[in-house]
Amino acid sequence: MPRLRPWSPERDAAAVLAAFEASADLHRQAPPIRTLADAREHLAAIAAEALAIDVDGTAVGCVMAGSRDPRHGTAWLSYWLAPSARGRGLAARALDSMSRALFADGLHRLELGARANNPASIAVAERAGYLREGVERERLRYADEQGRDERFDVVRLARLATDPAPDLAPLELA
Ligand SMILES: CC(C)(COP(=O)(O)OP(=O)(O)OC[C@H]1O[C@@H](n2cnc3c(N)ncnc32)[C@H](O)[C@@H]1OP(=O)(O)O)[C@@H](O)C(=O)NCCC(=O)NCCS
Repeated sequence: MPRLRPWSPERDAAAVLAAFEASADLHRQAPPIRTLADAREHLAAIAAEALAIDVDGTAVGCVMAGSRDPRHGTAWLSYWLAPSARGRGLAARALDSMSRALFADGLHRLELGARANNPASIAVAERAGYLREGVERERLRYADEQGRDERFDVVRLARLATDPAPDLAPLELA
């Protein structure tokens, strides 16, 4: 059964390294992870803000709420899945479950951004009840495979505590 649980840098480093080795797109989202030590360091750095998406004891993805601002009741959400865990709706359920927990904690507005050319990520956010609020033109810069810089538009989405909740089965929060 999939569930959400805290990260354990020691235990989860190998699974995270394998996920990053299997997927070039993950390096755009997080700092490059090329060794077990990189994975451990990254997990230790995000442990307070992120949860592992766990399937049968293995971490297959991450959902994170950074930049929490108690003054305004906001946070910035992000997520990823190992390629082997994609295509099953897990990211949307993880994002929805994390969002419900944050609203229960008193946050009011959860925000995220997805590259305009990342339709799967936009679909995940919309499925988890996030609404589009606009496009930030040429917001991000990444190098292409030849090392040339390319700029990307970013679709901004947000979900408010008062927005209708999506009809998704929540993941257990361990
Ligand atoms: C984004 C990510 C988590 C999505 O994983 P996933 O939920 O398993 O994605 P799926 O393959 O099930 O696709 C989600 C939805 O997008 C749709 N989709 C996927 N690729 C698509 C495409 N090229 N065009 C249009 N729709 C697409 C799917 O049909 C699916 O729709 P549905 O929910 O209505 O069935 C995963 O691709 C990932 O980890 N990417 C790298 C990191 C990243 O980009 N994170 C997001 C940044 S915030």
